[in-house]
Amino acid sequence: MDLEEKTRELKKIEREVAKCQKCALYKTRQKTVPGEGNPASDIMFVGEAPGAREDIEGRPFCGPAGKFLDQLLDSIGLRRDDVFIANTLKCRPPNNRDPEPAEKELCRMYLEEQIRVINPKIIVTLGRHSTETFLPGIGGITKLRAKLYRRSTGRYFFPLYHPAAALHNGAMRQVLVDDFTKLPAAIERVRREAEKEVKEKTKNLKLF
Ligand code: URA
Repeated sequence: MDLEEKTRELKKIEREVAKCQKCALYKTRQKTVPGEGNPASDIMFVGEAPGAREDIEGRPFCGPAGKFLDQLLDSIGLRRDDVFIANTLKCRPPNNRDPEPAEKELCRMYLEEQIRVINPKIIVTLGRHSTETFLPGIGGITKLRAKLYRRSTGRYFFPLYHPAAALHNGAMRQVLVDDFTKLPAAIERVRREAEKEVKEKTKNLKLF
């Protein structure tokens, strides 16, 4: 898919999300928060759900957790435009309560569609909910964090603590800052693996 087609497809998903009434969150939301960023990026970040600021602006991570995420991205030489940022839920749960399993299930189709269109090589899962969505049943975030996992789909995942959880917790904040420094090497490894696979495929094609 070229950039134009990706942009068009993502807009289509945005329009679907904007009129979504699959769960009760549509009754309390101000704006839907589909996600934003570079549709051609190899790197996607998936958070939990919009907070108060995001609900007002309709943009992901534009509140205090987002400012911290910007700093973390900056610390490894990335900007928002270099990546795509989305959430497991597209609407804010009232009072920022945890997403309910049924809400995550009903909303998942939009996220999966975004992933299909963007086709990132690596998905950085921010926090417990996002991590459980993609890497269910293999352990909690404390065990899984800052390591690379490959799923049978061929896609790689790199779980991290959620910036909001780490924002006001000095120890966790430092862990997240340190874990972020491991992300460039993980991205590099994923890119190298992808290149290797393309070479293998080309070689095999030439054999036939
Ligand atoms: N927390 C999230 O998980 N996502 C946002 O967009 C903002 C805060």
